[in-house]
Amino acid sequence: MKIRSVIRGVGSYLPANVVSNDELAKRVDTSDEWIQERTGIKQRHIAADGEKTSDLAIAAGRQALERAGIAGEDVDLFVVATATPDQTFPATAAKVQAALGRPGAPAFDVQAVCSGFVYGLSVVDSLVQCGQAKSALFIGAETFSRILDWEDRATCVLFGDGAGAVALTAEQGTGTVDDRGILSTHLHSDGKHHDLLYVDGGASSTQTTGYVRMEGREVFRHAVVNLAATVKEALAANEITIDDVDWLVPHQANKRILDSTAKKLRIDPAKVIVTVDKHANTSAASIPLALAAAIDDERIQSGQLVLMEAMGGGFTWGSALVRM
Ligand code: ACO
Repeated sequence: MKIRSVIRGVGSYLPANVVSNDELAKRVDTSDEWIQERTGIKQRHIAADGEKTSDLAIAAGRQALERAGIAGEDVDLFVVATATPDQTFPATAAKVQAALGRPGAPAFDVQAVCSGFVYGLSVVDSLVQCGQAKSALFIGAETFSRILDWEDRATCVLFGDGAGAVALTAEQGTGTVDDRGILSTHLHSDGKHHDLLYVDGGASSTQTTGYVRMEGREVFRHAVVNLAATVKEALAANEITIDDVDWLVPHQANKRILDSTAKKLRIDPAKVIVTVDKHANTSAASIPLALAAAIDDERIQSGQLVLMEAMGGGFTWGSALVRM
């Protein structure tokens, strides 16, 4: 027997303002053709003035709880994965807990940038498995638009804002791959690459928030290798093959990374959930946003095997295998 963290409901929220590539081309020297060819991105959602990461997180979290049929006061644990918190502290999760939960329920943020969702899922699952929580609300939420240098065409075209959430409960499983819930998580980092993808500000260095800086080609090269490796690691740990996986839900960085990774894994491209065209890269929010989109259009069904993978600044990377 083994305790499993089962996803009971998934929610999402995207800011109303949609910005097309053509609109961006009025601000920086770029074109719809260049952006689509290099990244697959067609548009991104951008938070309104005054709209904060916690606002996005609360909206997505509320929907996940409603869909799960779980009351906020019954949630034992609130976790938000974000690299763009409202403030340096308190944690954005504390604001979510205040809006949706009961006083006293623990709340904290996880920061692993674009890998934040798989990192946070692993932390939540560990707390559920060791009996610290019987139910949890876990949200990936970002307002990357706030840390973009809108004069740097190499980065500002790549990112967007949004939030996705999962409501989980502890269930008794058999300990096999047939169980519903999180079956495995694998996490990695290699901090020697910290200067290939970073923000050039922070409380203890510049006392400013800073902007995203990136060596795009290097990031691309590492991403494909690391993502394929962590997927293979998840398959081996669960003694399954890529053909047993119903859906790959990757972090949505760019279409060429998705395609190259899928090719390396020899997975049927029809099994790869792609939302980067509509949302761009929403960092920790991208996996739950893609998950929500594929549940809403009824591709992902209860009982199916979903493999998630992500890589981000640090570098950090990892995977999570989940039976829905
Ligand atoms: N519009 C037009 N031209 C541009 C733009 C733009 N938005 N951005 C860069 N260029 C130009 C460059 O200035 C350069 O011009 P030059 O040859 O005159 O110097 C030319 O395009 C080629 O630049 P490269 O950076 O070499 O372009 P590349 O083919 O590598 O594509 C890209 C850039 C899309 C960023 C690519 O490297 C990539 O996808 N990298 C992965 C990065 C990523 O997805 N990061 C997200 C965070 S990490 C993660 O989530 C996994």
